[in-house]
Amino acid sequence: MFSVITGGEQPEDNEKEARGARFMLREGRGPMTIAIETEGLKKRFRGVNAVDGVDLSVPQGAIFGFLGPNGAGKTTTIRLLLGLLTPNRGRIALFGEDLRRNRIAALKSVGVAFETPAHYEHLTGRENLDITRRLLKLDKSEIDRVLATVELSHVADRHVRKYSLGMRHRLGLARALLGNPKLLIFDEPTNGLDPVGIREMRDFIKTLPDRTGATVFVSSHHLAEIEQMASHVAVIHLGKIVFQGAMDELRGLHAPRLEVGCSDEAQATALLGGGARKVESRNGRLIVELPTAEGAKARAASINRRLNDAGIDVHHLALAPWTLEELFLQLVGANPHLGQK
Ligand SMILES: Nc1ncnc2c1ncn2[C@@H]1O[C@H](COP(=O)(O)OP(=O)(O)OP(=O)(O)O)[C@@H](O)[C@H]1O
Ligand SMILES: [Mg+2]
Repeated sequence: MFSVITGGEQPEDNEKEARGARFMLREGRGPMTIAIETEGLKKRFRGVNAVDGVDLSVPQGAIFGFLGPNGAGKTTTIRLLLGLLTPNRGRIALFGEDLRRNRIAALKSVGVAFETPAHYEHLTGRENLDITRRLLKLDKSEIDRVLATVELSHVADRHVRKYSLGMRHRLGLARALLGNPKLLIFDEPTNGLDPVGIREMRDFIKTLPDRTGATVFVSSHHLAEIEQMASHVAVIHLGKIVFQGAMDELRGLHAPRLEVGCSDEAQATALLGGGARKVESRNGRLIVELPTAEGAKARAASINRRLNDAGIDVHHLALAPWTLEELFLQLVGANPHLGQK
């Protein structure tokens, strides 16, 4: 069973018992379904609560998106998960292994790639991977396997200093994949990539659970990116989790919207505005809220028809993505205390 939470504050006895029972269940009795579990995780740096009571529950086999703006606490949380930082309070279990008590066992099955991949520039991709392979005491064939997985076989013997940023990122992923770990942790894997590189990386990450059986924990500050790859998501803001659940639940929190460019905004607003539907003007376009994601395409077509029938020309019609900032306003607006530090 887990030891009691560290630090001065202790939970109520009954709460402590319930937690203990839950953790005991996870430790070997019954199927193991939680890849990462944290409880009350806190990390403070010189007056800043970088991670402030984070409870995460990452189901095995998920692509779990960890979403938050710059400085929200993503990298700090990841460093805590990897035992690279010691929490001020709280506990972490990876596949039921307490990180503090069984660090080696807990981290044995974890592969990680940080946002700025660090490689030896004067060595080839293959030689870089060989360093990690030797440390992990893996067979040499592992190198060719992971190079093929990230599609770098053709440049395996080229010096890393001649790699593009996208190749460097993929080499970082290849290193994470060595030994076929059960849990892959990627900190902002698309940072600095161009739109094509971002799409390739996203498509690649999406295939990983099926191809390797791994659980993927991936951080990002792009809502749209996480929406397109994750099955589950946690949103972190000022060190606190403001939302955690299935991706569909998060989608349900922000209704889809249509961006309309037309010849007569005032008339279009009068026409589309009635009832509960919200219509607002932004940068010369109308933003029309749709009630649900289902049938969004049919609704867009019907709105287009109504405007045309009224003699209004439509020159732009697209689903408008929500930004992370808008989502925060929605989440924090519903729970004002979450916005405070
Ligand atoms: N080693 C450190 N010493 C002092 N403060 C730190 C340290 N590391 C992080 N912080 C602070 O903790 C907070 C969270 O930082 P963190 O790097 O975890 O955020 P992040 O979500 O990864 O941001 P980004 O999107 O910019 O990578 C920030 O206020 C940051 O300045
Ligand atoms: Mg970071």
